[in-house]
Order: sequence, then structure tokens, then C-alpha cells
Amino acid sequence: MGAHIETGIDIVRQHLIDPEICIRCNTCEETCPIDAITHDGVNYVVNAQVCNGCIACVPPCPTGAIDNWRNVLRSEAYSIDDQFGWDALPAQHEEINAPVEVPAHNDEAPVASDTVGGSTVAPWSAARPYVQLYTHKAPALATVVGNFRLTDAAAPSDIRHIVLDFGALPFPVLEGQSIGILPPGTSADGRAHHARQYSIASPRDGERPGYNNLSLTVKRVQHEDGNGVCSNYLCDLKKGDVVTVIGPFGNTFLMPNHPDSHLLMICTGTGSAPMRAMTEYRRRRRATGETGKLMLFFGARTRGELPYFGPLMSLPKDFIDTNLAFSRTPGEAKRYVQDVMRERADDVAQLLGDGNTHVYVCGLRGMEDGVMQTLEFIARSHSLDWPALWERLRREGRLHLETY
Ligand code: A2P
Repeated sequence: MGAHIETGIDIVRQHLIDPEICIRCNTCEETCPIDAITHDGVNYVVNAQVCNGCIACVPPCPTGAIDNWRNVLRSEAYSIDDQFGWDALPAQHEEINAPVEVPAHNDEAPVASDTVGGSTVAPWSAARPYVQLYTHKAPALATVVGNFRLTDAAAPSDIRHIVLDFGALPFPVLEGQSIGILPPGTSADGRAHHARQYSIASPRDGERPGYNNLSLTVKRVQHEDGNGVCSNYLCDLKKGDVVTVIGPFGNTFLMPNHPDSHLLMICTGTGSAPMRAMTEYRRRRRATGETGKLMLFFGARTRGELPYFGPLMSLPKDFIDTNLAFSRTPGEAKRYVQDVMRERADDVAQLLGDGNTHVYVCGLRGMEDGVMQTLEFIARSHSLDWPALWERLRREGRLHLETY
């Protein structure tokens, strides 16, 4: 139930998830080592009978919705059914809000080594991100200034590049951060749709340099079980339409800013969004004499379904080492990013052995294990001590995994 507070009356510090900020990404439920977190079709909740306050779930949460606590009488702890019905967190009861000594958990977050494979801290040279400037109660409004299809007209997947402009409203972002979109309307039970999270595909200085705008890479999902509500809404937007936005979110999947830092980027499909943002930021700064290397592994079904294929291929070869893997090209063998990484094992190993290398993985959930196994295979076959290297990468904020 979170921390048990020793007082005359039986007060406990109950762990709760803010339904207004939560983007239902399932990270907390997957991270919880004792299955205290569950969800229904609407909310993610913490079972007070099971939670032991270990806070393994807190660092990986991309929005911070997980980091909410209420002092309650043990006998009046909120049940999971109470929490399923919430649209917002309840206020703290003043009479049981006695000042109590509880660990400053943000400072002593466990190095969740057993529960997450990637870093829970940002690279040392990352810029400081702003997070949660805009919430459900006070969202930002952005205007659509562009919406065009990235995939071939004949290709089955409809992936779009959508540009949102914030006008005079401050909306500072960094590469690797995400925003939440609130689609209009309600679900079948009459409640407002919850926010859907999208990675930002443009650099910090704007999709267009010097403009207060950003871009998203959105794949249209077929409607199934309520899925696809937001992606279809976004993909159908026209120039001039106004979108409700919350965020920004994310304070660890951020790029290093020291000039000799290398980026090893591995992605599939729309997981390319943060890679595009980082690559474009580096491209704009090329003239400043940065010496760090960029190596990209990018998987898609076919050439025509790989977002940003054209612009990517026109980047100078001495700027980025691009490696594509196509899984459904007629007449060709199926290839995943892992296959191409193994073909380039010597160069990947050289990067892995360099203390300036930062690894980013974004895309399908299914690829995460395969990519991690491939990194391990490459490390071991090049005499690198993988367990020690993996731990060091995590500790130093140099291994970032975001799969869905
Ligand atoms: P597949 O042809 O097997 O679906 P999507 O278009 O669905 O976003 O997928 C992007 C790419 O990621 C596709 O080439 C897809 O191949 C590939 N992919 C699917 N599963 C995995 C996996 N476990 N590891 C690596 N790539 C994968």
C-alpha cells in the first residue's frame, strides 16, 4: 500500500495513478514486480492490498502520472473499483495529511535493474526538459499547419507527417519527448477519450527552424476494440484544424549534447519519430564541428512503407550510417533490424565499446527482446563483457528503450 506511516492512528501512504495525466501506455503494469497494478478499459490503478511501495514503477513512467500518493486511514484506502471510476484524483483529506517522514523516493529511485532493461536517467549532457506544462484541466491548443502522407499512395499503411503550430503559446520540447493528444468526443460509456501519446519527430528548434511548431509521425490504425480513435482523428486533420494537446512528456529518452557523443539508433515504423528528431538536430548543427557518429538501423515492411525514406536516403553518407531492413519485399528474404545489425556487427561492437555511445530503441514491442539479444550477441562475440556493459549503459543514461 505504499509506505506505512508509524503514527498513533493507522495512516498509510497510498500509491495512486493520476487518470488525468496517465496515457495508458502499460509501462507501470509491466514494470511492477509484484503485479500490484492493473487496468480496465479506462484507468490504470494500484491495488492497495498488494502494493509494497517499492516504486520500481515510478522512474519508467513517461508522464509522471504514476507518482501520486495520498495519506489515508488504512481502513479507508481506495479500492481498485473506486479508482476505476475516477476521472481525477481525489483531494488529500486535510485531517490526515499530517507531516510525516517518508523517503524522498525520487532521490532514491531503485536502479530498477531487475525490472527494466533500459536507463531511467537521461544522458549527462542532455538539456533539461520541461514536462507537463499542459494538462487535461489546462491543455494547449495547436493549429494543424501540415498533414501529408509519408508512405507510398499504393502502400497498405497510411503513415502521416503532421505539423502542429502553437502560435505564441510556449511549448518547449526536446528530441525524444512526446505529447498527448486529446481526441474529441467520448467513448461508448460516455466518458471523454483519454489522451494518446505520440513521439515528437522534429528537433527542439521546431519542424521549421525558428518556428513554434513540432511534427508527429502517425500511423492510421484500423478501428478495433476502440483502438484507432486518435490515429484516425489525427490522420484526417486538415490545415487550420485545432487540436487539444497535453504535455510535453518524457525526461529520460533524451539525446546527449556533447559534440563527440555517438548515437546508435534502432527503430521500426513510426518508432522512427524520435530518431528523425535527433538526426535532424544533429544535421542542423553539423557546421559546429560535432564529431560524434550516427548509426541507424530502421525496419519497415517495404521501401514504400518506410516513413521518411526519401529525406533519409539523401542525407550525406559521412553524416549518418543508415541501414534499412525490409521484411516484406516481394522476391526478397524477410529481414529485420536484428539481421542487419548482425551483418554490421564489427561496427556496432566498436560503438558499443565506446563510452560516448548512446543507444536508442523505439518501435514495436516485439522487437525489443530481439534487439537486446542482438546487442548481447554482438558484444559477446567481440569480447565485451555484456552484463557489465549493459549495467554501465543503463546507469549512465546511455540505453533508452521505448517500445509499444
Ligand atoms: P513484419 O513484416 O514481420 O510485420 P509495422 O509496419 O507493423 O509497424 O512493422 C515495422 C517493421 O517491423 C516490419 O518490417 C515488421 O515486420 C517488423 N517487425 C515485426 N516484428 C518484429 C520483431 N519482433 N523484431 C523486429 N522487427 C519486427
